[in-house]
Amino acid sequence: MKVATKNQYAVITGASQGLGKAFALSLAKRKHNLILISLPNQNLKGLAQHIKETYKVEVPYFETDFSSDENILSLTNELNKNYDVDILINNAGTGGTKKLEDVSLNYLNTIIQVNVKATSIFIHQLLPNLKQQSRAYILNVSSIAAFSPIGYKTVYPASKAFVHSFSLGLSEELKDSNISVSVINPGAMKTNPEITARIEKQGFLGKLTLLEPEKVAEYSIRKMFKGKIFILINPMSWFFSTLLPNWIKIPMMTNIVKREA
Ligand SMILES: NC(=O)c1ccc[n+]([C@@H]2O[C@H](COP(=O)([O-])OP(=O)(O)OC[C@H]3O[C@@H](n4cnc5c(N)ncnc54)[C@H](OP(=O)(O)O)[C@@H]3O)[C@@H](O)[C@H]2O)c1
Repeated sequence: MKVATKNQYAVITGASQGLGKAFALSLAKRKHNLILISLPNQNLKGLAQHIKETYKVEVPYFETDFSSDENILSLTNELNKNYDVDILINNAGTGGTKKLEDVSLNYLNTIIQVNVKATSIFIHQLLPNLKQQSRAYILNVSSIAAFSPIGYKTVYPASKAFVHSFSLGLSEELKDSNISVSVINPGAMKTNPEITARIEKQGFLGKLTLLEPEKVAEYSIRKMFKGKIFILINPMSWFFSTLLPNWIKIPMMTNIVKREA
């Protein structure tokens, strides 16, 4: 088990609940200091306080909306000025199931901004900081959806395919450096009431591959510290999504999620 140097911090985005919170708890148990980031008004203060008291680690926290580059840049500047960051977990992400003709421009922009741009900007801005540490880790959260285009979701799987591709490319680019880059592609997790309701609507197939966020986080952190690049979370879903040809899987996946639209 890796124990961090006293002054190093793990930055976790989307940390107030779900998988992000599970990552935070998993690292706190390892006595790693955390920097928690969430949208405003998600009771992040309460979570930070709880982790600080329970695990005796430092837990500064920041609330901001990633929907503008300026917000992300002002946050990363502050982090670079004040903290040594040795772990960056890009967990924040957003999506939905709607007919493309029914969505607003804001809906499209937010998915691309949070999933694609925030992930890229965070890494780009924190890279010099990560390089200064003796050993550093980046863990990006993609999705099993990265392996299959899906009607009514369209932008979300495409954005997660970006995260997967970006991670593998960056990992190769940094392979001789102190920074190890990992990516996970989890299947459905019951992380919040909205997602839970969506999964319930997907019927048998949706429920079959359900994952617990705490187990996903713990497994991912273990593999991340071992320097694993592609951390396979759900082998069965991955096997089917890479094995099945597009003419079978795209209509099949689209039919499954259509009930949510
Ligand atoms: N749940 C699943 O079934 C599933 C499956 C595959 C992949 N994933 C991926 O796993 C990651 C975590 O998902 P989750 O289910 O735990 O939570 P989630 O409800 O999908 O949301 C992820 C978190 O991202 C943060 N976020 C969303 N919009 C943001 C914005 N505009 N600015 C800043 N932060 C924003 C929020 O964090 P705060 O609430 O802390 O503000 C939000 O809780 C996501 O990247 C998701 O795409 C989830």
